[in-house]
Amino acid sequence: MQRLTHEEILGWLRETRPAQLDQLFAQADQVRREHVGDAVHLRGLVEISNYCVRQCHYCGLRAARSTPRYRMNREEIVASAHKCVELGFGTLVIQAGEDFGIEAEWLAGVIRQIKAETPLAITLSLGERLLDELRLWREAGADRYLLRFETSDPALYTAIHPLRGAALSDRVELLREMRKMGYEIGSGVMAGIPGQTYEILARDIELFAELDLDMVGIGPFIAHPETPLGAPDVPTAGEAQVPSNELMVLKAVALTRLVCPEANLPATTALATINTVDGREHGLESGANVFMPILTPSPYRQMYQIYPGKACVDEDATQCNQCLRGRIQRLNRYVGEGQGGRRSGGGEAAFGNASQSAPATKARQQLSDELGQKESSQPAENALSQFVVLR
Ligand code: 5AD
Repeated sequence: MQRLTHEEILGWLRETRPAQLDQLFAQADQVRREHVGDAVHLRGLVEISNYCVRQCHYCGLRAARSTPRYRMNREEIVASAHKCVELGFGTLVIQAGEDFGIEAEWLAGVIRQIKAETPLAITLSLGERLLDELRLWREAGADRYLLRFETSDPALYTAIHPLRGAALSDRVELLREMRKMGYEIGSGVMAGIPGQTYEILARDIELFAELDLDMVGIGPFIAHPETPLGAPDVPTAGEAQVPSNELMVLKAVALTRLVCPEANLPATTALATINTVDGREHGLESGANVFMPILTPSPYRQMYQIYPGKACVDEDATQCNQCLRGRIQRLNRYVGEGQGGRRSGGGEAAFGNASQSAPATKARQQLSDELGQKESSQPAENALSQFVVLR
């Protein structure tokens, strides 16, 4: 594994000079190519329930919010799995709010059926569930689990995640337990949550490396007006506050690629939401190697509004598939075959198309020009004149 010091990570997070940032993105792109190749894996995402017992201060699904709720039935979920195969995706991601109405035995049955009827890898993203439930799902055939720890800072975590009664919340410990059960584990954070400082985000990235995560999702915080962190007067960390913009996400993705070279990193839907034109492309050029097209059928798709304005909500799965494949092709990358797990086969160490493509270079140049215009007026806090990787 390559190591960056805490100061280097911090320096890059505060870096604003386009020429320096180009080096960071180019280095991340190269590390991505060397370790996971040019394949872009597609994970079909089915959002099976928007019920949630939690009160997370940023999330549009929080229990206190009065919004129409749904829970998909077994037939609907299995149909989504078959759609996933039909569209050529190797992984089904089953996501929901933290919904104990999703009964553990019932879901185990759904997992068994999908594993029996399809060649799909199954990733679960269902919040903090009991160890016995996680074990049951693993035994039923689930391959991976996504649980973002959201922040490595205990005080910030507590401030934005009210406890559920007496239940303690230790997502890092839960991730470690899931790894022991044989899951590939994924986590992540939002960039720019109010109260998130550069120091904190740097430590988040260091924690990704320490946990040796198999998957890391990073998107921008997008204020939801009907949540506490979406209020207009919400306090921030002032000068130390991480902004929730595209550049910050791209820097965090690139740094994550450097410290977790083998991990699967999505260019997230939230990133595509703040830059609908080419946010996804910028993600793929800054270290990401995964897209997560939404398979959730209407009308549920419109009801899974974690944040407002979510990209792709007005399209269906077939349209998303075509759109994403076009984006991949135009970057001279290709769609990965098989399950595309870090450990579980199908993750080709493909080095085809290894040379930097002209469109990729052009897109990065454009971004760099845009950034030059937007951010060059800010002084670089920590001017790293060259990229340094300690071995
Ligand atoms: N903006 C961006 N991302 C959000 N998430 C939740 N709320 C928001 C928001 N307002 C992210 C969290 C969660 C994931 C499923 O979605 O990081 O883990």
